[in-house]
Amino acid sequence: MIVIATRAKIGAANPIEPFLDILRCPRSGADLRLQGNALVTSDGRHRYRMSEAGIPLFAEEFLSPQAEVQRHHYNKIAAAYTANLNYPHTQEYLAYLDRVVLDAIGPGDLGTVAELCCGRGEAPMLLKGRMSRYIGIDVSENMLEAARQLHKNASSLFLQGDATRVPLAPESIDTVVMLGGVHHVPDRARLFAEIARVLKPGGRFLYREPVSDFIVWRALRAAIYRLSPMLDPSTERPLQYEETVPVLHRAGLASLHYRTHGFLGFCLFMNSDVLFFNRLFQFVPGIRAITRGAARFDEAVLNLPGFARAGLQVVGLAEKPVSAQGKAGLPASATLSSG
Ligand SMILES: C[S@@+](CC[C@H](N)C(=O)[O-])C[C@H]1O[C@@H](n2cnc3c(N)ncnc32)[C@H](O)[C@@H]1O
Repeated sequence: MIVIATRAKIGAANPIEPFLDILRCPRSGADLRLQGNALVTSDGRHRYRMSEAGIPLFAEEFLSPQAEVQRHHYNKIAAAYTANLNYPHTQEYLAYLDRVVLDAIGPGDLGTVAELCCGRGEAPMLLKGRMSRYIGIDVSENMLEAARQLHKNASSLFLQGDATRVPLAPESIDTVVMLGGVHHVPDRARLFAEIARVLKPGGRFLYREPVSDFIVWRALRAAIYRLSPMLDPSTERPLQYEETVPVLHRAGLASLHYRTHGFLGFCLFMNSDVLFFNRLFQFVPGIRAITRGAARFDEAVLNLPGFARAGLQVVGLAEKPVSAQGKAGLPASATLSSG
């Protein structure tokens, strides 16, 4: 988990201090206080040590078996994962997806933002200047180290945690963001319940994830997930509408937006982690312009009648209703939105 402090709080003695109000013991939900090089519950029962780099290790012992698999996997592939994002065509296609995500969330201040499965910390780059506080959570120490390197100019704090055991207080967060993290968490019901728990009423959950609503991509991905050393098929599963929107609804979150993006252009210009030939595109003159054209082509295809769910990435937005009616209080129409 990464925390970038607001300017007013940067001067605090320990960078964690300004966030103690919203940090909680993931085991008991109790408040935490700083004690030497550790965070300790007020009754002293639970203690979380910090790494040498100052990262509190909430998931060192307390994590789900699937998160342990992901932790091991991402500790192994962290360097390759971040390197694969640096190809010009990958960056260009990601810039297109960033615009789509920004359109989905709309303008305005996002308040206290928590990014789950933050990896190298994407939200601080995407939502720069729109957050009063930023908290990133990831289970992999090596990904957190990559994030720390990337954000070292900002006042930042890195915290390790499991997205299904979030070390945050109930109703403490205005915006939860997941950019390529949901599909790494097999227990979606528990993940979405945690998001609903930490969101304030009226708070929103923004996500961008691989999606396999289209049967062709589902079949292709089944093969790729088995073959690629960058993917772990035992824990990673792209989203599908039926496993997402109704599960959000049951967790008490109203789906406001669910729309797919990325078609053949995404296939070709993203995925340098699995399509090794794709890396050669970096030497093609004008590759950025070509990739932008491919993104426009993909958008046009997905606007054709019957193709709205045929994309390879879904961008979604859900909201925790302001009324305290509970899960049953969500209007049925709130679960619908694929346009
Ligand atoms: C696709 S990667 C990172 C995505 C991130 N947006 C980025 O570009 O760096 C997914 C991340 O999820 C993390 N992860 C997987 N399962 C997790 C869990 N249960 N809790 C927290 N993080 C998890 C992995 O360690 C990995 O860093």
